[in-house]
Amino acid sequence: MCGIVGYIGKRDVQPILVNGLSKLEYRGYDSAGIAVLEPGGLEVRKAEGRLANLDGKLKTMPVRGTIGIGHTRWATHGGPSDANSHPHTDMSGAFSIVHNGIIENYLEIKEELVRKGVSFASETDTEVIVHLIADLYDGQLVSTVRRVIRKLQGAYSLGVITQHEPDKLVAVRQASPLVIGAGAGENFIASDISAILEHTKDVYILEDGDVATLTLDRIDIVKGDTGEPVDRKLHRIDWDEEQVQKGPYEHYMLKEIHEQPLTLRNTMAGRIDGGNRIVLPEIPLTEQELQRIEKMYIVACGTAYHAGLVGKFAIESLTRIPVEIDIASEFRYRDPIVSDNTLVIVVSQSGETADTIAALQESQRRGAKVLAVTNVAGSTIARQADYVLATKAGPEIAVASTKAYTAQLLAFELLALYFAQTLRTLDDETRSSLVDGIKQLPHQVEKLLANADEIKWFAESILDRRSVFFIGRGLDYAVALEASLKLKEISYIHSEAYAAGELKHGSLALVEEGTPVIALVTHQQLFEKTVSNIKEAKARGARVMGVTVDGNVELLDSVDEACFIPRTHQLFAPILAVVPMQLLSYYTSLALGNDIDKPRNLAKSVTVE
Ligand code: F6R
Repeated sequence: MCGIVGYIGKRDVQPILVNGLSKLEYRGYDSAGIAVLEPGGLEVRKAEGRLANLDGKLKTMPVRGTIGIGHTRWATHGGPSDANSHPHTDMSGAFSIVHNGIIENYLEIKEELVRKGVSFASETDTEVIVHLIADLYDGQLVSTVRRVIRKLQGAYSLGVITQHEPDKLVAVRQASPLVIGAGAGENFIASDISAILEHTKDVYILEDGDVATLTLDRIDIVKGDTGEPVDRKLHRIDWDEEQVQKGPYEHYMLKEIHEQPLTLRNTMAGRIDGGNRIVLPEIPLTEQELQRIEKMYIVACGTAYHAGLVGKFAIESLTRIPVEIDIASEFRYRDPIVSDNTLVIVVSQSGETADTIAALQESQRRGAKVLAVTNVAGSTIARQADYVLATKAGPEIAVASTKAYTAQLLAFELLALYFAQTLRTLDDETRSSLVDGIKQLPHQVEKLLANADEIKWFAESILDRRSVFFIGRGLDYAVALEASLKLKEISYIHSEAYAAGELKHGSLALVEEGTPVIALVTHQQLFEKTVSNIKEAKARGARVMGVTVDGNVELLDSVDEACFIPRTHQLFAPILAVVPMQLLSYYTSLALGNDIDKPRNLAKSVTVE
């Protein structure tokens, strides 16, 4: 949700900021802007819409300087417009800030400032911050910012510059992510590492309440409330710049779909020993500790929640421990029954989703241990959880999640097997044969991707449809939910997912001649049952595409088209079945000419509630 970048050094700052914003655009793309300290004072350029609009403006009105801040916005308070774009400046034009987050008490502060004669140029919550800084400025930017943040309630990461102190960039983190990149004779701030990866791999991850002052060759971090210096660890990032480039692919989403064999291999690497035992030293839960766990929760949002649905199946079937699954934005408002005998598993690609962080904190407050399945080392969730099971999907840039989802599914399979192994609820032979199945998955995904083009014809047939239905039973239903989310997210075609047996309890009324129904039928034991549901839909005129496993040719008698996935253990079928569904969404969106990597109204990292 909004991306921030900032630079102080000796190089021309404009291309550094614009390039950094291009890596952060996935966080929001309603508008973009930069502020640069030119010798004559602060210069701001901003433009509504995609970064390309700002870039266009900068071609005719460039800015020259070596210190600056930039922002890409996902609108919360105040619609997308030039005026509401960041950076915001005070009335004198001497101070400029970029902000990610929400200031909850901005109306109160605004009233006070208006009484003092301040006039506002935007409808944003952010603008109060820059006017407060100008109002309270005491000749020291850092001490002023520290006094200002005491007045703010909510979530904010900030980058602040002023022409009064042209050798400094001040940054703040409070419940919104911010990293500092350390270079030689230059330093950076960014909402996430991808924005500065081409310049440095050495980063400090700020903690809540930290205020940092960056100069050419120093980074000083203090606690915002006391001013006491703090030492933050310097992390060396092992992601490559190449991983955040599109390479030969037209879109990040397609690249990320094709990366899945690799990301699955990376996620299992080092976690399976020679005897097919699961090795997870990062989760040092003993047999005794696991036995004390009466119930687990899985809590997440969106695609990560869909991965959790599969996780519930895997853990319950292999350990017989009951698992409840919750949408993170609902969890803490329903007074969940969580105690020190509960293990809460939170799932988050970004590790920064506000609702998931809140669920994590609420669970810990109620005495539970929290295990995080996350893709971003050093993220808030990774740092606050008691245990972290890292997915190794690498940076995911496309807003629609693909490789992070399959990595989450694999992480859950490994976790369920690990719990079962520790609790001895699974005999060695069964475990070993399941692990053999896991090892084949990357190759099986490769096989599916080799036939990626086959799904194009079905994509073409749904382009002009009003609605698409996805149905499935058991784990197939979990995949149907994810497939439906993927399709609506990037194609904007309305779609719904139903447990196949549920369709006839009302929604069948929506099926008419030609309505596309995509039936996931990988569950061998439920095959006949789902086929009956397919027939119910076909009898009402539906055009059905079935997704099933190799060999189930009899499905062809009940559907119009079929897509086959390699045979695997039932628990692992979602990892394969989702791949043609990802491709279906991709090709549909491509044919519709949509902006696949940046679908309308969305942002990659949802750091507001
Ligand atoms: C959909 C998608 C979202 C995210 C959700 C949670 O393609 O990506 O539904 O899964 O916003 O995000 P994380 O996993 O970062 O917590």
